[in-house]
Amino acid sequence: MTAKLIDGKAIAAELKHKIKAATQMRLATGKRIPGLAVVLIGDNPASQVYVGSKRRSCEEVGFKSVSFDLPEDTTQQTLLSLIEGLNNDDEIDGILVQLPLPAHINADAVIEHIAPHKDVDGFHPYNIGRLAQRHPQLRPCTPKGVITMIKSTGIELKGKEAVVVGASNIVGRPMALELLLAGSTITVCHRMTQDLESHVRRAEVLVVAVGKPGFIPGEWIRDGAVVIDVGINRLADGKLTGDVEFAAASKKASWITPVPGGVGPMTVATLLENTLFAAEHLHI
Ligand code: GUN
Repeated sequence: MTAKLIDGKAIAAELKHKIKAATQMRLATGKRIPGLAVVLIGDNPASQVYVGSKRRSCEEVGFKSVSFDLPEDTTQQTLLSLIEGLNNDDEIDGILVQLPLPAHINADAVIEHIAPHKDVDGFHPYNIGRLAQRHPQLRPCTPKGVITMIKSTGIELKGKEAVVVGASNIVGRPMALELLLAGSTITVCHRMTQDLESHVRRAEVLVVAVGKPGFIPGEWIRDGAVVIDVGINRLADGKLTGDVEFAAASKKASWITPVPGGVGPMTVATLLENTLFAAEHLHI
């Protein structure tokens, strides 16, 4: 089998096109344009790239984009006060604080300080709880984007054996909740998992988010599986690569996401989708 590509870049472009049209429609009917505040602390190079892409995409679809770039030694209290102001700003529909945060800042306290209806990352315990209880409101961007990508293939998730490798709060855990909501049977693998290979070999849908280049041998992929590679790893030669051995996995999978051009663009487009959702449904 040679896998078909799930073209995240193209699906994201189409989604952004729809978001732009909806934004223009809001303007034409006298409504506010959606506003997103993006906060970056310190100078982590990967975070700078991701935040740059989020801000540019906001402008592409015609959103108001407000940027805060604060130094590494910003205190937690300064950040909480900034969030407080954004929570009370009527022109802001979404607040995103890029992770990871410097070690002296308690990320949980920061996330919990964002008003749940402006938490367009979907990381607040309220939004994770809503997803866990089958009434999602603002849903974590990467997992939601992955569901959009799988749906684009026409593959039915109900009753499928889905295996998620990686159990982070940002991807693995909410990914498992999304797949459960979609009716799949879920296995979540992590550092303490014994015999990872046997789980991966069973997967009809495999989502990998561990951040280690080529971590999953292509030979482990079940024939006909849908493979979603969330990893974005920079190699010594500057090239980007995923967590799955792409060439070998493509020989076994029915569908596979490339890196770059797969999940990455979908995360950003889904952030815009969430911001529009907040503007339309949560901040009337
Ligand atoms: N760091 C890595 N991924 C993300 C994300 O989706 N949102 C935020 N805020 N930080 C991240």
